[in-house]
Amino acid sequence: MNEREQVIKALQPALTDLSMNEIADKIERPKDSNNGDYAFPTFFLAKTLHKAPQIIAQELLAKIDQTGFEKVVVAGPYINFFLDKQVVGENILKTILADPENYGSQDLGHLANVAIDLSSPNIAKPMGMGHLRSTVIGNAIANILAKVGYNPIRINHLGDWGTQFGKLMAAYEMWGNEEEVQQDPINTLQKYYVKINTEADTHPEYNDLGREWFKNLENGDPEAYRLWKWFRAESLKRFMKIYRLLDIDFDSYNGEAFYNDKMAEIDQLLQDKHLLQESKGAQIVDLEKYNLNPALIKKSDGSSLYITRDLSAALFRKRMYGFAQALYVVGAEQRNHFDQLKAVFSEMGFTWSKQIHYIPFGLMSLNGKKMSTRKGNIVQLEDVLNDSIKLARQQIAEKNPELQNADEVARQVGVGAVIFHDLKNERTNSIDFKLADVVKFEGETGPYVQYAHARAESILRKAGTPDFAQAESLALSGDEAWGILTRLGQYGEVIERAANEYDPSLVGKYALALAKDFNQYYAHTRILVDDDEKMARLALVKAVSEVLKSSLALLGVKAPDEM
Ligand code: ARG
Repeated sequence: MNEREQVIKALQPALTDLSMNEIADKIERPKDSNNGDYAFPTFFLAKTLHKAPQIIAQELLAKIDQTGFEKVVVAGPYINFFLDKQVVGENILKTILADPENYGSQDLGHLANVAIDLSSPNIAKPMGMGHLRSTVIGNAIANILAKVGYNPIRINHLGDWGTQFGKLMAAYEMWGNEEEVQQDPINTLQKYYVKINTEADTHPEYNDLGREWFKNLENGDPEAYRLWKWFRAESLKRFMKIYRLLDIDFDSYNGEAFYNDKMAEIDQLLQDKHLLQESKGAQIVDLEKYNLNPALIKKSDGSSLYITRDLSAALFRKRMYGFAQALYVVGAEQRNHFDQLKAVFSEMGFTWSKQIHYIPFGLMSLNGKKMSTRKGNIVQLEDVLNDSIKLARQQIAEKNPELQNADEVARQVGVGAVIFHDLKNERTNSIDFKLADVVKFEGETGPYVQYAHARAESILRKAGTPDFAQAESLALSGDEAWGILTRLGQYGEVIERAANEYDPSLVGKYALALAKDFNQYYAHTRILVDDDEKMARLALVKAVSEVLKSSLALLGVKAPDEM
């Protein structure tokens, strides 16, 4: 039972006409702690009871079950609840220690499927920082949704189809060298792609050539298909290396190409519903009534577009997974595309288009510089991760030269630092990335949180890994631990909000705050001193360790026991 539930339970005997949810909706948290930990206003009852709220508050007070509270008092129209800190604190610790892994878990989703479109890098290009954001934000949202009882399905909608492949093939045919590609596939292909884009400024015919190649690909031309397969396989190999570093798995790698033979159905559906119009030889859906520019469904040469493939993909996912929600974790610059996608479905009369949620995020810059792939100015994610691991390794060598599995820990710290830096920020903020700031052990960083966890674990080791089931009491007197205890008690609420708002940063900020609470406590309290409350203090340390580890896990960050 959490604290809010305790307040509801206390009120129930006094409010037998109201359901638990109705009571819960009215409970407030006073801004000023002099007014208690929770408050219940009585204004809303005045009309039905024909009495002044002040009187109602007095009458309810007599019927309230006050066990577990330090006091319950009436202040004007409010009933103020002051929690009994010892009882509440002990309850929180017992709840966490009884089942640490499931602490904070809820069943809001009843195992409904949620299709999450994430990562989705483009073949034949290095994975950049934008795709890192999509990958880690999407993965964290999936973890958080699983924690509240949904069944997330991670879908990597690989960018493996489209005019840009035509361009790449055209470039390869003109300047390509098989050996060179074999040696360093992604960078070489990227080089050709940048070259054709740059030269197309003065040679517009290269753009036509690209379109032609793509059209060949869509029509099943064997040479185009051979190149496509080869480029895709090489790219995937590289991407998998990054996913392994991040320790992220996908349920599906069906990319855009997967829908090549499925788009005819979309075309047919749109025709049947008389939604297609011709415009300069191309097929469009007019979206003026949504205040959007028309959606281009088919080019004049008959080839498909990004949105055509997304229409087909969403329909496929609806059938395959019967999703309750379909999320798209994609950069803020694609808002118009997803507005159009939803609008076309709504024109088609698919009411489930309301279950589609676009989850945008801001740009990531590196040391203040913007990054773009078309002109080749890109920072490679793999380099960033490897640099971060190297830096973490150096720091560990300085701080803890004896550490046994230092390389593995450096990996967890280096990768965790990059992920955490992304996720502590609100999704829609643009963020800048400076490696030295990200891997610091102090400040608002992943390593800071990991370090607090490792410190807690080291205290527990020193105490001989106590068995709390044997302890008589886990009650803590005094106020030092109260801040940590209330924070621990809020974990479930934080997760619920993060799930509802698709915002992992709430969990990131929570982990930082808990780590800070704990470090302060540690600085002022002698935890291992032998007295009546030693077991309770160690239980607190254990609970902090478990909740830090759990919140980091939701973000996709590991928590080493030593670092
Ligand atoms: N490959 C695209 C890009 O890098 C992102 C794909 C996002 N997902 C989607 N279903 N459109 O810009």
